Amino acid sequence: MARSSPAPRRGWRSPGTRALAAAATVAATAAVLVTAPGADAAASTLGAAAAQSGRYFGTAIAAGRLGDSAYTTIAAREFTMVTPENEMKPDATEPSQNQFSFSAGDQVYNWAISHGAQVRGHTLAWHSQQPGWMQSMGGSALRSAMINHIQKVMAHYQGKLAYWDVVNEAFNEDGSRRSSNLQSTGNDWIEVAFKTARAADPSTKLCYNDYNIDNWNYAKTQGVYNMVRDFKSRGVPIDCVGLQGHFTGGSSVPSSLQTTISGFAALGVDVALTEVDVTNASTSQYAALTQACMNVARCVGITVWGVRDSDSWRSSESPLLFDGNGNKKAAYNSVLNVLNSGSGTPTTTPTNPTTTPTTPTTPTTPGGGSCTAALSAGQSWSDRYNLTVSVSGASSWTVTMTVPSPARISATWNINATWPSSQVLLATPNGNGNNWGVTIQHNGNWNWPTVRCSTS
Ligand code: G3I
Repeated sequence: MARSSPAPRRGWRSPGTRALAAAATVAATAAVLVTAPGADAAASTLGAAAAQSGRYFGTAIAAGRLGDSAYTTIAAREFTMVTPENEMKPDATEPSQNQFSFSAGDQVYNWAISHGAQVRGHTLAWHSQQPGWMQSMGGSALRSAMINHIQKVMAHYQGKLAYWDVVNEAFNEDGSRRSSNLQSTGNDWIEVAFKTARAADPSTKLCYNDYNIDNWNYAKTQGVYNMVRDFKSRGVPIDCVGLQGHFTGGSSVPSSLQTTISGFAALGVDVALTEVDVTNASTSQYAALTQACMNVARCVGITVWGVRDSDSWRSSESPLLFDGNGNKKAAYNSVLNVLNSGSGTPTTTPTNPTTTPTTPTTPTTPGGGSCTAALSAGQSWSDRYNLTVSVSGASSWTVTMTVPSPARISATWNINATWPSSQVLLATPNGNGNNWGVTIQHNGNWNWPTVRCSTS
């Protein structure tokens, strides 16, 4: 069934232009691998509930709202992934050619990191929200400008972002390529963008992101699917597909959404719902989209496009999980319940014993002061695993966790997190006690991280 594009709001641009420890006292055995995660206690925030299954729950954040304490209180409490709503788009980051401005993007990035969330970069190459100088360009000049833009912006955020939406909204509803100045530089512009991005920052997952690609039986979905399949077959670097998930009154959550997510995942990419909003925040639709993600191991997370209804680009449709006064809506509870149920998530037992998570070879050494951090295994999937950390001996502590390259920590819960480097996490209490956790994308290295606990 064909769906229309997300409805533009007043003042928005036209459809044509938019768009371990080791105290690791618990050995990691296969039996532990299939232990249900956190099934004993329901989490009380979206981020913590999603983390029980190794997923994140995110929101779009606008730099202009970071002075609003009601907004930041909810955002800090609930979300573990942040997408800058407009601050990392080409018109924001390169207002004049080759003159870059990262102040607003950095503001959102710094806020997210200081509140324990990770960041999804959005977006590098898009027909919309191009700076004026780029809009009037074409041909080889635009191709060079696009490459330079990707290189410079990714260099600024090198090693800092979990994901980047490299290319956004490049397809028509019929599955063909959208005509744009970027498309006019040659049909290979998308793969050039991804190859440039991989070379610029090999540490970040590179995504294609689009709307109306939720229905498996829709031409646009198949157009994007064929591109991703082609890229994977030819070795063009692509790691993830973002389904925006702007569900409007006339185009509700399709029954085939889970099929679509698992179809993309079968190509060997992560899948995420990246910009979710639903007309009038239908509880059944929010529950359905959450369950569809939970049912596919490689659906790594869900991001809603804003905090409160009043923050939404579709505010008149009240499409988010908090009302304008910051109250949790019924849809919030429906999402939280599905995340907490954990049902439907396939548990992956590694078929290759060599990929079984191993106990650390280096015992944890206490740091300054007398505290200990003990690691134990949580749930595991083909690409990632959860660890829970129990700190004993102190109530005020700092745990330094170092993951072995190329593994990365993709989510944390119940701590304040800072990141001296992409491989090192500094964890301090956030008021929720001494038990916390991480999700680790192993990237081929299943060795557990080392941990060091310090009270000074
Ligand atoms: O900041 C200016 C303000 O100074 C000015 O007075 C005002 C006048 O219109 O405009 C303000 O900028 C607006 C900006 O949002 C911040 O509110 C722009 O006009 C407006 O075009 C822009 O809209 C954004 C839209 O992308 C533009 O394409 C929305 O906030 C943002 O939510 C939306 O996000 C997109 C995703 O990036 C891609 N997928 C669709 C999604 C929803 O449209």
